[in-house]
Amino acid sequence: MKNTVATFRQAKGQTSLSMITAYDYSIAKIAEQSDINGILVGDSLGMVMLGYQDTLRVTLEDMISSCAAVARAVHEKLLVCDMPFMSYHTGVHTAVKNAGRLVQEGLAQAVKLEGGCEFLSEVAAIVRAQIPVMGHLGLTPQSVNAFGGFKVQGKSVEAAQKILDSARALQDAGIFAIVLEGIPALLGEKITQELEVPTIGIGAGSMCDGQILVWQDMLGLTERQPKFVKPFANLRETILHAFKDYTQSLQDHTFPSAEHCYTVENEAEIIAQLK
Ligand code: KIV
Repeated sequence: MKNTVATFRQAKGQTSLSMITAYDYSIAKIAEQSDINGILVGDSLGMVMLGYQDTLRVTLEDMISSCAAVARAVHEKLLVCDMPFMSYHTGVHTAVKNAGRLVQEGLAQAVKLEGGCEFLSEVAAIVRAQIPVMGHLGLTPQSVNAFGGFKVQGKSVEAAQKILDSARALQDAGIFAIVLEGIPALLGEKITQELEVPTIGIGAGSMCDGQILVWQDMLGLTERQPKFVKPFANLRETILHAFKDYTQSLQDHTFPSAEHCYTVENEAEIIAQLK
C-alpha cells in the first residue's frame, strides 16, 4: 500500500506507524522492500553521515542531494525531508522557497521543521503552498545550544505546558503529523490524546501513534546509543567481522578465487604475445 500524508492521518488510533531515517539510495532500497511506513531524510545526517557533533552545519544542499538519492529508491513510503538549521529562520518567504526546493529538487513529499509557536507563520505559509509539514517538538536538536546540550525536555509543569500548547498551535497551523523527541512518556501520551494528527515518538514513550529511529542506531551500527534506542540487529559486529575475514582471505590467498576472476578464450596465448 502506498503511504501518503492522507494514510498517515487515517492511521491515527488505528495502527502504529513505523518510520526510520535514511540518507542514501542503498538503505532506502532495503526500506522500500519492508513494511516501514515512512522515511525521514533527517538532518541527523550531519552527525551519522558527515561526522559533525550536532546538526547545525547541515546545509539545504546536503538535504536536497540526500533526499533525491533516497527518492530514487522509495516509491511506496511517505518521504519526509528535514528543513535544516537556518533554512526557515529568517522569514516566511525564505521558508516557503526552501521547502519548495526540498520538494522540487529533493523530491520530498513533505517537510519537517523543528520548533513551536515561534514558527507558526512559516508552517502555515508552507502548508498554504501545498507542501505538507510535519512538526517536531521536545528535544529539538537544532536548539542544542539554547538547551545547553542534548537534554530531555518538558520536565516541569511550565515546560510541559509549553510543549503541549505548541503542539496544539502547530496542529491549528496545519501540520499533518508531529515528531515528539526526548520528552517524558506521560507527556508523549497526553499530547497524543490531545491531538487529532498522529504523533511519531523518539524517546517519547510507547503511547505515541508511531515511532521513528535513526537507522544506524536501530541496526546497531553506532557505537553508543541513546537510552530510547533498541538495536534490532548488530550490524557493527557483522561489518567488523566481514572486514576481518576479507583482510584474512587476502593473506590466505583464498580471495579472489577462480569464481571471482574474468577469463577469455586463448588468454594464455594473448598474454604470451604481449611485448
Ligand atoms: O534528524 C533526524 O533524524 C530527526 C529524527 C531523529 C526525528 O529529526
